[in-house]
Amino acid sequence: MKIGTLTGGGDCPGLNAVIRAVVRKGIFHYRDEIVGFLEGWRGLIEDQSMELDLDAVSGILPRGGTILRTSRTNPFKRPDGIARCLATIAAHKIDALVAIGGDDTLSVAQKLYENGVKVVGVPKTIDNDLGGTDYTFGFDTACNIVCEAIDRVHTTAEAHNRVMVVEVMGRDAGWIALYSGIAGGADAILIPERPFDVEKVADSIRQRHGRGRYFSIIVVAEGTKFAESSGAPVVQDMGKDEFGHAKLGGVANVLAREIEKRTGFETRAVVLGHIQRGGSPSAFDRVLATRYGLGAIDMVHRGEFGCMAALRANKIVSIPLKEAIARNRVVDDEMIKIAEGLFEELPAKQTASK
Ligand code: F6P
Repeated sequence: MKIGTLTGGGDCPGLNAVIRAVVRKGIFHYRDEIVGFLEGWRGLIEDQSMELDLDAVSGILPRGGTILRTSRTNPFKRPDGIARCLATIAAHKIDALVAIGGDDTLSVAQKLYENGVKVVGVPKTIDNDLGGTDYTFGFDTACNIVCEAIDRVHTTAEAHNRVMVVEVMGRDAGWIALYSGIAGGADAILIPERPFDVEKVADSIRQRHGRGRYFSIIVVAEGTKFAESSGAPVVQDMGKDEFGHAKLGGVANVLAREIEKRTGFETRAVVLGHIQRGGSPSAFDRVLATRYGLGAIDMVHRGEFGCMAALRANKIVSIPLKEAIARNRVVDDEMIKIAEGLFEELPAKQTASK
């Protein structure tokens, strides 16, 4: 078969491991020919591609980023975008397409499938919030990076008697904040699933200082909202990408100012940003990404189109793309309860009796 593949949306460590697995199993086991389309859906719209033979994927397993590069191009926002994708697929005589991406990329994959393209999806998002799968690759690496950053921030916070607010990725779901916050021993973890009351956070820091701990670490996901802000996250500017997402960022700075104002404790903000997405994947992510790639090429040869490779109970299974993109997998109550077990329950505020 002649198989096309592409990587779309924000990059994350492990993309190259998926590409390598698709190419190696495709060539070694199925005698496939693999073509890589460049920069996500842009490669199909503009007919930009490269041959993916064994040489092309040699040595890429430990490399971050993606040899195919990526973009947030949305064919539905481009004139004749879908028609041009279909024309490129026809011109290259592509029998099937492996689309590696998050909900945006996979929602386009689903639409192409509805237009007759034989598509298989591979789940990718650093945020770990894609529906239908237990974990996405890149998430483990990001948590390791954040955990190390928290450890480093810890010693300087302690040396200066400061509160440090660490902002991490997580647009709609707080998986990175929760996992790395637990792993790094954070004193408060704030996630998009639970808008927070800033006075309560300030109070918990006061209580901790009252117990003789004169520094604190707060981990906050970028998409977390102040309870008072009626559902709006803090954004960097008013611009949006082609899928309609605002550029988030800045919640840590706003929160740091509020904490300092309310408690009088010196407070600093650290925004980890794209450092979380860069560099070499962890061993866990290399293995997970490889399993997804192998799963996807097998799905192509079993004819399981309109489906995505998913991890469920540590098995790679095939699920409908529709199910994966239907809704984000946010942090569930059970996981929140586990994290809450680590923190002191604050007494309810006394209301003055008349
Ligand atoms: O969607 C994944 C993500 O990493 C989000 O956590 C973050 O808000 C966004 O991408 C950043 O996007 P960009 O790389 O376009 O700045």
